[in-house]
Amino acid sequence: MLKIGEAEAQAAARVIRSGGLFRYGDGKEGHLSECAKFEQELAEKVGAKHTLVVTSGTAALICGLVGLEVGPGDEVIVPGYTFVASALAPLAVGAIPVIAEIDESLTLDPKDVEAKISRRTKVIMPVHMAGLPANMNRIMRVARRNGLKVLEDACQADGGSYKGRRLGSIGEVGAYSFNYFKNVTCGEGGAVVTNDRARYARALIHHDGGVGFWRPGEEIGARLFAGWNFRMNEILAAILRVQLRRIDGLLRRNRSHKARLMEALSEHPGIRFIKHNDLEGECATVLGFRFKEEKEARAFAAALSEEGEYGWLPIDTGRHVYTNWESIMEERGAYHPGLDAYRRPENRARKPRYRADMCPRTLEILSRTVFLDIRPEWKAADVRKRIRACLRAADAMG
Ligand SMILES: Cc1ncc(COP(=O)(O)O)c(C=O)c1O
Repeated sequence: MLKIGEAEAQAAARVIRSGGLFRYGDGKEGHLSECAKFEQELAEKVGAKHTLVVTSGTAALICGLVGLEVGPGDEVIVPGYTFVASALAPLAVGAIPVIAEIDESLTLDPKDVEAKISRRTKVIMPVHMAGLPANMNRIMRVARRNGLKVLEDACQADGGSYKGRRLGSIGEVGAYSFNYFKNVTCGEGGAVVTNDRARYARALIHHDGGVGFWRPGEEIGARLFAGWNFRMNEILAAILRVQLRRIDGLLRRNRSHKARLMEALSEHPGIRFIKHNDLEGECATVLGFRFKEEKEARAFAAALSEEGEYGWLPIDTGRHVYTNWESIMEERGAYHPGLDAYRRPENRARKPRYRADMCPRTLEILSRTVFLDIRPEWKAADVRKRIRACLRAADAMG
């Protein structure tokens, strides 16, 4: 979460006072709901033709997979370092998540993606973790060569870009999260973006089983299938419209803080940074330090803590590491065996089975990386304070 304030409170109050809390509430000719306006503004911001606001990033991933017609018999390649939701989404549509390695950028390793492709693979899901863009050029090339589609999980990277294009708009489909911890937030929320009308229509139907009722006569009505309810409400959409106006300024400040930190710290012989796929475009919500081994990373984090700063190892972040995804590692794909992707006949031929040691490089990289959070509200003195703390911590390690 970057910032929420008076403008968001006023936007929410305006909607509450109007009494129009439901996105299809008014129905008056020409009236655009807050949800529809947010969708238009998001489409403009990220440069995608179609956008759909939903109730969470998880819902956005699920609707994105529905848009791509993923189902039983299909595999989706996800990185071993991401929030468990990236791997749960394929299960929700009956498909199997296949777990691949990350590289020194802490995002999906394109080389390991190639190694994990099988004849069942349908989608590659790069995840822009902690606002760090995945290597999209290489991932898109691998996808094209193998006839696969790309669903970008940009849930931790709202507003970021890669080589001049917004994260989420590069693959066939993109997903954002607007939960409390994200760059753009309304407490809970998400969005799907795509340039393809048919994919959008499927996501739209799946996000709202009643969409044909709310939008009678629309072309999508003729192709209805049973959907769910991941419909966004007007109060949260009004908050999101304000948040969207803040995002570029916030990320600019983050990037400038990060550039100053890196410039000042790069001279120190004990400091090395993680690999960056696009330093100019990334969200710069973290600065990643790279060490030779876990012992060094832990020593650096401890020394930072002595200086009153908090450095964290991504290996310690619970369900962001595949070994902690119990429901997946133990192949319990749903509450009911009949709905469990792992038990579906179409998925029986798949291999390999999950093992804790199946992505050793991912575990190794996560264990020898330290992240320092960067905050947009920092002033120059706050940046200098972090520079001093990092230099002292690096000195203390000898
Ligand atoms: C990488 C990633 N993917 C997906 C999600 C799911 O988003 P949400 O919590 O909005 O469902 C998250 C949220 O934490 C995430 O970090």
